[in-house]
Amino acid sequence: MNPSYEADRVQGIAQSDIRLMSRRCMEVGGVNLGQGICDQPVPDAVKRAAQQAIDDDRSIYSKYEGIDELRRLIADKLRDYNRIEADPDREVLVTAGSTGGFVAAVLSFVQPGDEVILFSPFYGYHYNVLRLAQPTVRSVTLRGDDFAFDPDELRAAFTPKTKAIVVNTPCNPCGKVFSRHELQQIAELCQEHDVLAITDEIYEYILYDGHEHVSLASLPGMHERTITISGFSKTYNMTGWRLGYAHAPEPLARRMGVVADLVYICAPTPLQHGVVAALRLPSSYYETLLADYDAKRAAIMAACDAVGLRSLRPQGAYYLMVDVRGAGFADDVEAARVLLDACGVAAIPGHSFYVDPADGRHQLRLCFAKQEHDLRRACDGILRLPEVMRARR
Ligand SMILES: Cc1ncc(COP(=O)(O)O)c(C=O)c1O
Repeated sequence: MNPSYEADRVQGIAQSDIRLMSRRCMEVGGVNLGQGICDQPVPDAVKRAAQQAIDDDRSIYSKYEGIDELRRLIADKLRDYNRIEADPDREVLVTAGSTGGFVAAVLSFVQPGDEVILFSPFYGYHYNVLRLAQPTVRSVTLRGDDFAFDPDELRAAFTPKTKAIVVNTPCNPCGKVFSRHELQQIAELCQEHDVLAITDEIYEYILYDGHEHVSLASLPGMHERTITISGFSKTYNMTGWRLGYAHAPEPLARRMGVVADLVYICAPTPLQHGVVAALRLPSSYYETLLADYDAKRAAIMAACDAVGLRSLRPQGAYYLMVDVRGAGFADDVEAARVLLDACGVAAIPGHSFYVDPADGRHQLRLCFAKQEHDLRRACDGILRLPEVMRARR
């Protein structure tokens, strides 16, 4: 292809290391802890509701904002779980995955000349979708074992050109759960500088060690300037269904809805009827989900710590970042290569999650949203590492 065909907005955007590692993992028949795929089943009640909607031929476009019943249930959930008052008819959008909501928000509000603040380590889609809209991305790096930000560094990132800040809590890749205090600091700066907040709360139910999920939009003064994005993919193991939602004050929600309509018209209608049943699941569903991930987190952390891949203990979500230096690796790329080739475990080099790759050069990300037998196989592979390292000397 003639490279000059390419629009400026896609220059330099490539498939992430995650896809690359997945392909290599398949070639060597390893266990893929690189990609965040939850391969657990979708709850039966949700499958049945979707099947029924298909049988009933509820197959035509819905309104761009989604079916009424689902928006009402989402508004209830936002009120009860997130402490966000939401008008289901004016402020809630059902989207094609949370990604659909994020794309609609970025295309609606971000343009060349704007600045957007993004914490590193980041979720790759956030960075790349932002790049499509061509703002200047200002990174604030989360550092230390608890991935804290330096309040002065954050303050310095706000300029008269700042249009928005992206906050992903619980965070992929590092598992950070932003505390109420940290969110208050962010909220104050947003208000001082009249900046929009775009949150990604897709892992909001996966919290460990007593950490609390706080939605930025629930803090005083933030309802009117926050776009809250979440989705069904992770909580109900349905990444392929492509269903998510967004809440924003009416004028912002309307703008995003019109843009989402242009990009994909609506989220898949029969599946919207299916997830109505998801929002009616009892609280025991979430308790079981959490207990399962907590046990998996413990298993992967134990295996990593045993071989010197020091765990940076995740507070939420289902990813573990480790520091590779204690296992004798010079950097993340070497660690990922040896883990895959010699131990049969794919992980993602940490540098791919940072605007300045040097910040992540001693880290690896491992996803533990795996079925038990795969996770056990991965842990066994990791435990072979000392032997592999001895043989390399
Ligand atoms: C932080 C984060 N946001 C969004 C997504 C994608 O969500 P969806 O399937 O709802 O588009 C992922 C998937 O890995 C993620 O980690």
